[in-house]
Amino acid sequence: MESSSPLNNRIILTGFMGCGKSYFSKKLSEHIVFNSYDTDSMIEAKSDKRVKEIFATEGEEAFRALEKDIVQDIITLDNVIIATGGGFPIYYDDICSLGSVIYMDIPFDDIVARMNKRDFIQRPLFLELDKARELYETRKAIYKERSHFQLDASQNIHAMVHDTVEFLFD
Ligand code: S3P
Repeated sequence: MESSSPLNNRIILTGFMGCGKSYFSKKLSEHIVFNSYDTDSMIEAKSDKRVKEIFATEGEEAFRALEKDIVQDIITLDNVIIATGGGFPIYYDDICSLGSVIYMDIPFDDIVARMNKRDFIQRPLFLELDKARELYETRKAIYKERSHFQLDASQNIHAMVHDTVEFLFD
């Protein structure tokens, strides 16, 4: 990859809610010394509202519009790792032009096993388990298609960092 390409300068993490994008972003940033960002936090900072609040008061469509607006901020950032909300690559089909997209692939049941009560409460689309599972099933193929690399996110953190660094810099 060319060093001037956004593929080298921006690492975009995608995957279903609760797969560990924000945590992995921070861990990876310790190894490759890129700053780490999070699209949900960017939306919250801009709107001065929590994601949960936006869903409750303005609805999902309004949230998706704010999420799309964040693209304008993302393209100004270099040498960054960006953890995206679980719906980002579903609603923004050109995500692969923004950077190296790494899809964190992990079975639904593993996600549920790792989550605590607060993780569920914070996520409006995870309140009903059956619906969340259905959403996971419909999104899985899209995550794969709109990515440059599929990372096995059931592995331990060291193996995940290793595989990612190998993909990015080998
Ligand atoms: C969403 C995922 C959430 C957040 C919002 C919608 C989704 O982010 O953006 O609740 O549609 O999957 P996380 O993936 O960080 O939970």
